[in-house]
Amino acid sequence: MATRLLAAATAALFLSACGGGDAPPDQAGSQPDARASVPAGPGFTDPRGEIFVVKGCPQCHSISALGVKSPAEVGPDLTLAYEDVQTRFNMELDDFLENPTGTMAVVLSAQIQLSPAERDSIHDILEDIHHEAVGDHDNDDD
Ligand code: HEC
Repeated sequence: MATRLLAAATAALFLSACGGGDAPPDQAGSQPDARASVPAGPGFTDPRGEIFVVKGCPQCHSISALGVKSPAEVGPDLTLAYEDVQTRFNMELDDFLENPTGTMAVVLSAQIQLSPAERDSIHDILEDIHHEAVGDHDNDDD
């Protein structure tokens, strides 16, 4: 417990020290220019984490494979979401991002807007890190 609090505090310090990536919930979807103000590496250790930070996903999701740490962890770690969505929601990840159910239906209509290109990027990254996490390197964009 202490470790987890410390980790959250460290993440919060890191985010505020770098001055980016911690947009409040009601602004996450309405600031398309946020990307420009994000310096290299706030809140993620893998460059593929940037889009998630820019879009505000770490308000609720850690993505451990990308070094993204959510202080709140309201939703599941997205490292295995590519497969998890198929098991839990019985749909492919790209369908889920386009027509989500449950909490994400609310998030992606009221709070965060994803363009088709952003959905694609998020899908491809989550597919890649899933393959990396399960040790399956058969996908050909390595
Ligand atoms: C306000 C909190 C919140 C934000 C912000 C948020 N999510 Fe979620 N998300 C959730 C919750 C809670 C769940 C679990 C939903 C459920 O079980 O019905 C979830 C589930 C998911 C899932 C399914 C995961 C799985 O393993 O089944 C994906 C994929 C996902 N979110 C992607 C995203 C992405 C991408 C973003 C940023 C664009 C994002 N979420 C932002 C709360 C959030």
